[in-house]
Amino acid sequence: AAAELGPYRHYMQKEIFEQPRAIGDTLQDVDAIVPALFGEGAEQVFKEIDNVLILACGTSYYAGMTARYWIESIAKIPVNVEIASEYRYRDSVPNPKSLVVTISQSGETADTLAALKHARSLGMENTLTICNVASSAMVRECKLNYITRAGVEVGVASTKAFTTQLVGLFMLTMCLAKVKGNLTAEKEESYLKQLRHLPAAITATLALEPQVMAWADRFVPKENALFLGRGMHYPIALEGALKLKEISYIHAEAYPAGELKHGPLALVTDAMPVVVIAPNDELLEKLKSNMQEVHARGGELYVFADADTQIVNSDNIHVIRMPEHYGKLSPILHTVTLQLLSYHTAVSRGTDVDKPRNLAKSVTVE
Ligand code: AGP
Repeated sequence: AAAELGPYRHYMQKEIFEQPRAIGDTLQDVDAIVPALFGEGAEQVFKEIDNVLILACGTSYYAGMTARYWIESIAKIPVNVEIASEYRYRDSVPNPKSLVVTISQSGETADTLAALKHARSLGMENTLTICNVASSAMVRECKLNYITRAGVEVGVASTKAFTTQLVGLFMLTMCLAKVKGNLTAEKEESYLKQLRHLPAAITATLALEPQVMAWADRFVPKENALFLGRGMHYPIALEGALKLKEISYIHAEAYPAGELKHGPLALVTDAMPVVVIAPNDELLEKLKSNMQEVHARGGELYVFADADTQIVNSDNIHVIRMPEHYGKLSPILHTVTLQLLSYHTAVSRGTDVDKPRNLAKSVTVE
């Protein structure tokens, strides 16, 4: 195992650093945006459907939540995202015109498989999976698929599986947009260019590791943390909080920043670190006033800020500058720094990073 780990201390760290390769591989056969990328008959299915229902668990569910922002904004198709174990047991109104999308690293998660079967039992036959294991039950059970090429993920905490899922979901977004007549040739070209540049952009983001390590040291004695994001970065905040909980055992919660004043602000004291995802997007000014709300209560802010956000280091405001603003694909870059933060916090706390207590890599029982 030591040889396999190379220069890395844990599989999780190795897998975080493998992301440029994993994403490059996931895009390998993509020359153009064509439905055939999702399998035979995809074009017909994409033409027929008029909404999307995404089913998944855990980190894969957060990938689905991110995709909802993309699909509604770019493809203009309504999207619902549900936690698989909830969907399967509630009375829902089936829509035969739904594209049912399951997302799963392993393709063997019992809850997600059961949710898929439930959807089919309700007459929804247009099924597609974004999955990392080609030979899995999920791929066998779905009509269409997109196989991510993260490679084997050993660490229980999902890292490269998540970012490659996001790439697969962005491909799906573009494809749906194209079939529905909502993607200009110009847009297609520029999104493809951005996708292809991702490995380099992630490499630049990984170079922030020493700065993130310095922050991690400050998180070690903490028992709570808040993560804030807005819009398509809200699911990334959720993912950052889950990662910190899973491997460092620090209690963490994520909120869309605008929701702070509706409750969680009461938790903010000088003992509460607040991690902020600050992309340079149209919500930036609103986010800055949310940060001010925290700062005024003595909360300590840890801000991952895109270039040009004009957010600077000062008392109780720590800033790590992200290499570049990455438009619609920005959630992928902001994921990487949050992975590093939880990883190094956990290492310093001395937990079993690759095999956190009470958890299994693939949850094949209910
Ligand atoms: C993520 O770090 C978790 N270990 C977990 O939430 C995982 O994403 C979930 O169990 C779903 O697994 P799957 O993608 O293999 O279906």
